[in-house]
Amino acid sequence: MAQSGEDFRTIWQKPDDPSVVQIIDQRLLPHEYRVHDLRSWQDGVVAIAEMYVRGAPLIGATAAWSLYLAALTSANPAAEVREAATALLESRPTAVNLRWAVNRILALLERAGPDADVVELLRADAQAICDEDIEISRGIGTHGAALLEAISRRKSSGTVNILTHCNAGSLATINWGTATAPIYFAHQRGIDVHVWVDETRPRNQGSQLTAWELAANGVPHTLIVDNAGGHLMQHGAVDIVITGTDRTTRCGDVANKIGTYLKALAAHDNSVPFYIALPSTTIDWESRDGLKEIPIEQRDPGEVSDVYGVCDGRRQYVRTTAADTPISNFAFDVTPSRLITGLITERGICEASEAGLIGLFPEMDAA
Ligand code: MRU
Repeated sequence: MAQSGEDFRTIWQKPDDPSVVQIIDQRLLPHEYRVHDLRSWQDGVVAIAEMYVRGAPLIGATAAWSLYLAALTSANPAAEVREAATALLESRPTAVNLRWAVNRILALLERAGPDADVVELLRADAQAICDEDIEISRGIGTHGAALLEAISRRKSSGTVNILTHCNAGSLATINWGTATAPIYFAHQRGIDVHVWVDETRPRNQGSQLTAWELAANGVPHTLIVDNAGGHLMQHGAVDIVITGTDRTTRCGDVANKIGTYLKALAAHDNSVPFYIALPSTTIDWESRDGLKEIPIEQRDPGEVSDVYGVCDGRRQYVRTTAADTPISNFAFDVTPSRLITGLITERGICEASEAGLIGLFPEMDAA
């Protein structure tokens, strides 16, 4: 079911019960595929904060559906939606799509007349956010696949080796992904691709999510530990790095999963092109300097000390550290624009700079 065919979605309204929104509980993958019901906006907050769902675009979509649930389950929908919006905005700090989606719904509410059917308005917009996200991924896929095709043409040996970090796949979006969309589209066109999948400690989104969905889509891939990328680049085994992003400033600085910056440094040192794939919903047009302005989420130390896996057929967590080891768990880092070869967006590929982004999104010039 994980195939990113036209029908795949990571969040949907339950077909026979519109009061339930369904998601995949990504915490259990790849060992168990379980659909989880969201019945209230509070369920949505838990799903985002505890990473049943994760990835910037899917977090935004989950927030939108949570606001629909807030309207649906209250006698005073407008007040309930505002309360839910405040809680959702606090659930995860770095992915800017969350703020984008919440603000979009609040603006819709603001414009609604006194006789508006608020529940239906919010349902339709949550659905629209998901439909638009799929089209955005399609655009990223089309532009990025052309890049992979050009590398394939240039290479005599054929295989295009792509390194990716974290999961910016179908599971992080509604379908197709951001960093994976070019890979899926290139693979479908018959281009010989192979993906180096960073394990991505501490939550292992690479080994547990990216490897799982690439396998489901028949894309050749190899799992590596997070520290292997530099070595592979030194030995010519990486043609291009493509990662996603959780927030990109208008000047092209990129926040992404912790460790992305180190990959960018290694790519720079080895002249390997380093691209970021992003929907425009991940651009924070209000910020310029990523290092100073992007809040970096710090998560539970337990994510570092304990490792999730399967033993004797049972899912379990195993502590790998001494009980009293002091731990820091920074979830994201910022890669400065100077280390980024280009940004792959739904409107095309541009330089990681304000001029580059404004060139593709001229309507944001005055913003
Ligand atoms: O902490 P997560 O799993 O929500 O991290 C977000 C990500 O999936 C990655 O950073 C990704 O590369 C960007 S989201 C498409």
